Amino acid sequence: CGIVGYAGSITTACGKPLDVCLQGLRRLEYRGYDSAGVALSAPGMDQVAVRKKAGRLDNLVEDIERNPMPAATVGIGHTRWATNGVPSDVNAHPHTSRDGKVAIIHNGIIENASQLRLDLQAEGYRFSSSTDTEVAAKLLGKIVDTIIAEEGAPDLFKAIRRLARMLKGAFTILATDCRQPDIVVGARHDSPLVVGLGDGENFLGSDVAAFVAYTKRAMEIDQDQAVCVSADSVVVTDFNGNVVEHPKTYTVDWDASAAEKGGWDSFMDKEIHEDPAAVQRTLLGRLNRNGDLNLDEVHIDEHDFKAVDKIIVIACGTASYAGMVAKYAIEHWVRIPVEVELAHEFRYRDPILTPRTLVVAISQSGETMDTLMALRHAREQGSKVLAICNTQGASIPRESDAVLYTHAGPEVAVASTKAFVAQITAAYLLGLYLAQVKGAMFRDEIHQVLDSLKHMPAKIQWVIDTQSGTISDAAKRMVDAKSFLFLGRHVGYPVALEGALKLKEIAYTFTEGFAAGELKHGPIALVDDGEPVVFIVPPERGRNVLHAKVISGIEEVRARGAFVIAVAEKGDPDVERYADVVFWRPQCPTLMSPLVDVVPLQLFAMDMAKLKGYDVDKPRNLAKSVTVE
Ligand code: G6P
Repeated sequence: CGIVGYAGSITTACGKPLDVCLQGLRRLEYRGYDSAGVALSAPGMDQVAVRKKAGRLDNLVEDIERNPMPAATVGIGHTRWATNGVPSDVNAHPHTSRDGKVAIIHNGIIENASQLRLDLQAEGYRFSSSTDTEVAAKLLGKIVDTIIAEEGAPDLFKAIRRLARMLKGAFTILATDCRQPDIVVGARHDSPLVVGLGDGENFLGSDVAAFVAYTKRAMEIDQDQAVCVSADSVVVTDFNGNVVEHPKTYTVDWDASAAEKGGWDSFMDKEIHEDPAAVQRTLLGRLNRNGDLNLDEVHIDEHDFKAVDKIIVIACGTASYAGMVAKYAIEHWVRIPVEVELAHEFRYRDPILTPRTLVVAISQSGETMDTLMALRHAREQGSKVLAICNTQGASIPRESDAVLYTHAGPEVAVASTKAFVAQITAAYLLGLYLAQVKGAMFRDEIHQVLDSLKHMPAKIQWVIDTQSGTISDAAKRMVDAKSFLFLGRHVGYPVALEGALKLKEIAYTFTEGFAAGELKHGPIALVDDGEPVVFIVPPERGRNVLHAKVISGIEEVRARGAFVIAVAEKGDPDVERYADVVFWRPQCPTLMSPLVDVVPLQLFAMDMAKLKGYDVDKPRNLAKSVTVE
């Protein structure tokens, strides 16, 4: 879910809280788009003004245009990815207290909501929705009433801390009370929250995208902290009210314009076209004058790096495929074992971790709860965790021992594209750095690999410039296909998995990705007349033994009537002979090939989805950062 909050001054705010909330929600919509809502408070209001609608944010905006909301000083807004209760107007956030004076929005899952609901029902409270959030709203209202009875005045900041101490599960909660229309309060436990520091106004957001159009100065709110913002103050405390003296602040390193479509049809279009820049920017500034790698920024001691005897990559979705690619390269270069595991599986299987194990958590958003939980487990077991992340100040890099940022720029489309190539690049830098400090490769060899890496952006650009036409034609031919198989070997295997995932995510086509060697052990039974099969054909024909094996796979499925689409090196005669459609790649070493090979598959999935009339940026049922386990 996406969360935004705004506190302005009584004299200046007026329509601004609503504008900030709606703009912020627009930028956060990739976090969920089942429903959206806002709540506003101003002096003199008898109840908080609340408006919420199921469906996309536009539904809410239209509703407000038809029936405007009152001027206000503070506001909170929410865009929802349903976890608890179906998407509907009633279940949308904000939810309000019994007297309508307090409204809250919430991201996460409150695990003891059923019990709390029963307790409140026993006291005569009624509920209009099936959500855990409404339980928290009613409870917060009750706590405020208790404080009024005790102290003679409402104290929302104190109330939210009491509430936070009573809740189990994961939550970021923001609240407003019309009796205190100069503040917005928040609390976080296992769910993200950031403050935006303005001039005579302050902001809250589940990430900086919520407010970067207004300010680039941000403040971190840590685990189990609460915050109270007004127009000219920000107070952070723990859940017991102890003030945090110097919360960490930082400057956001990208512009609001970086998170805008900038003339492209969709964010996905824009982001695929940024693949070359994403690789280039991730390489930038990481080599010293002698051409050696310098990763001082990650803050792991060289001595600790030298001691590493095993790497475990933990990640979900696309990031896990970047991790699989990294395994092939790092094992080859550094000669230490690399395991890759889905974060949610890793966490619950009692993995073998020692202080010499380096756990690498890969995450675009830095907020994926499954990955966050897995990294906490690894640290508890005494291993060091290094995050590869695209989002400054997010929970995963904050809780890791070290971080290597990918500099892909904000990724807005739900299906990940440019972050994938940036993650592979960063993981390669890490591998080469380990090889450097451990002396696992000669300096010249490392320089050679770095040199090939530096040439990759231009090669990706070549694919975009020369293959887009062939790719759209192929999509037109295949638009009615019911299913696809994707096959690859070695580093082509994770690329096949990622290609299959892209098509599944945005074109809703049934796809399966397999290691091409498995073909004869099962998947070939699926091959029928006209069945589309996508092959990632390795480069270095003649030098790479796997090339011939993949070509045999192509022959086998062709013999059974398959329609073969190949990603292959320009001019590969074997592929020309057997494939129905080819997306060409320029020459490059095998280990570099995933960086180019995934690009035509991203474009293909996007073209297919567009032809089917789907919203490529916001595929059904998915959200970009999954902040629940
Ligand atoms: C979600 C997104 C995927 C993404 C995955 C991991 O499922 O829809 O596109 O690959 O999370 O996200 P992360 O931010 O951790 O890379």
